[in-house]
Amino acid sequence: MIRVLFVCLGNICRSPMAEAVFRNLVEKENLSGRISVDSAGTGHWHTGSQPHEGTREILDKNDVTYEGMTARQVRETDWDEFDYLVAMDQKNLQDLHSIRQKDGVTVTKLMDYLPQLDVDEVPDPYYTGNFDYVYDLVQQGCAELLASIKKEYKL
Ligand code: 4NP
Repeated sequence: MIRVLFVCLGNICRSPMAEAVFRNLVEKENLSGRISVDSAGTGHWHTGSQPHEGTREILDKNDVTYEGMTARQVRETDWDEFDYLVAMDQKNLQDLHSIRQKDGVTVTKLMDYLPQLDVDEVPDPYYTGNFDYVYDLVQQGCAELLASIKKEYKL
């Protein structure tokens, strides 16, 4: 199994959106048996909460399920349990590097997969309120991440 963990700050806006969108893409390509998906936040404040209303709204609008998803904090064992840790912004990435480092775990940002866009980070809609723009970035980033994994693992 190839295991992908999306990471943001609160695990209620961006990373659950990416988890749901990526899982949807994986299912559409019949790769659920090969690729598993989860998300977590570097912060603990929203542990146990469902995704933010703005994230739920845009996922509903696009027919992407988030059923049963609840927030949790990143933990050190995630480096043993995932192959990819995919951060939403530079601060998430720094925080991940400071929590733990382990050979063989790929730690990246989602926007690294969209170099042509000249957008470095997924902006936090918790503050900007712009869930539509974030969805657009997440959708494109997830598609490219999946393409990259398929290429690397010859799926
Ligand atoms: P997220 O957004 O990292 O995309 O889930 C945030 C959600 C909550 C908070 C910050 C960011 N917060 O400070 O509670």
